[in-house]
Amino acid sequence: MRIRIRRASEPAASEITPEGLWLRRREFLQAGAAGAGALLLPSALSALESRADGLGALKAPRNATYSVSEDHTDYDDATRYNNFYEFGTDKQDPKKYAHTLVRDPWSVLIDGEVGKPGRLSFEDLVPRKALEERVYRLRCVEAWSMVIPWIGVPLGDVLKRFEPTRKARYVAFETLVDPEQMPGQRRRVLDWPYREGLRLDEAMNPLALLATGMYGRELPNQNGAPVRLVVPWKYGFKSIKSIVRIHLTEDQPFTTWNDSAPQEYGFYANVNPDVHHPRWRQSRERRIGEFGKRKTLPFNGYAEEVAGLYKRMDLAEFY
Ligand code: MTE
Repeated sequence: MRIRIRRASEPAASEITPEGLWLRRREFLQAGAAGAGALLLPSALSALESRADGLGALKAPRNATYSVSEDHTDYDDATRYNNFYEFGTDKQDPKKYAHTLVRDPWSVLIDGEVGKPGRLSFEDLVPRKALEERVYRLRCVEAWSMVIPWIGVPLGDVLKRFEPTRKARYVAFETLVDPEQMPGQRRRVLDWPYREGLRLDEAMNPLALLATGMYGRELPNQNGAPVRLVVPWKYGFKSIKSIVRIHLTEDQPFTTWNDSAPQEYGFYANVNPDVHHPRWRQSRERRIGEFGKRKTLPFNGYAEEVAGLYKRMDLAEFY
């Protein structure tokens, strides 16, 4: 596993300049180099900003109740150091290869234990006018973490529209399968499609987010475009990317990592500093872009919001 570690003497870009301004400055410098010093007006600068990575701007009001006030991870780190096995198993592969993903048109099938099943375009599933921004910590099981300003809608609000039946107890999610678009699927490193699941009450918790953007823009392909899950109190592998199906079930669904190595990855996967993975201690983590390590918090620091969901459970057994 490779992690880009900032030298102690090198401050994070986010410590010097607000992230948006910093991005614009970088693009300004790049454009300046390309345009042999041509003078760029502010309007040209914002046009440059929206053209970066070919992603459109996606602005939404910040929900302060559900946002942490910690420095954001650099945009470059959040989009160049990824886990997305459909594009390869190296952290650098998704950024290199995810351009083959066709993000438009995109639809998501909602079925199983719902009164109103259907197939929706992702814009209809996650309406623009309902979007909000939330700054969440994301803790990967490999003992690194990031802080990312996501844009999305609470998953529970979306699920309610499909009227879960009385039998619905779990929500299962699936990623697209298409080896043409996702070359990593030509190898059976995982049992495709990538699948994840939550208990229905976890899915209805206001923290669970269906995200379509980050850092004020549409999601880059490597971060799970056009729509992904973000469950900030669980290890990152629960936050499934590029979702094409949401299936409500009576029984606990199959989930990819739990199936491939059950002694390493549980169905619940709540961030727990006391339960170690066989290869990584979970008591500490490296925040990408920082020097040194910090303590991992139970439920990734979201215990107040979610500990009640697990009141009668032994979380060492149900890891
Ligand atoms: N979703 C799919 N479909 N395929 C994957 O390989 N990796 C997971 C999760 N979602 C993964 C996925 C893991 S292990 C992590 S840590 C997060 O995505 C990483 O999200 P990020 O790349 O946006 O930081």
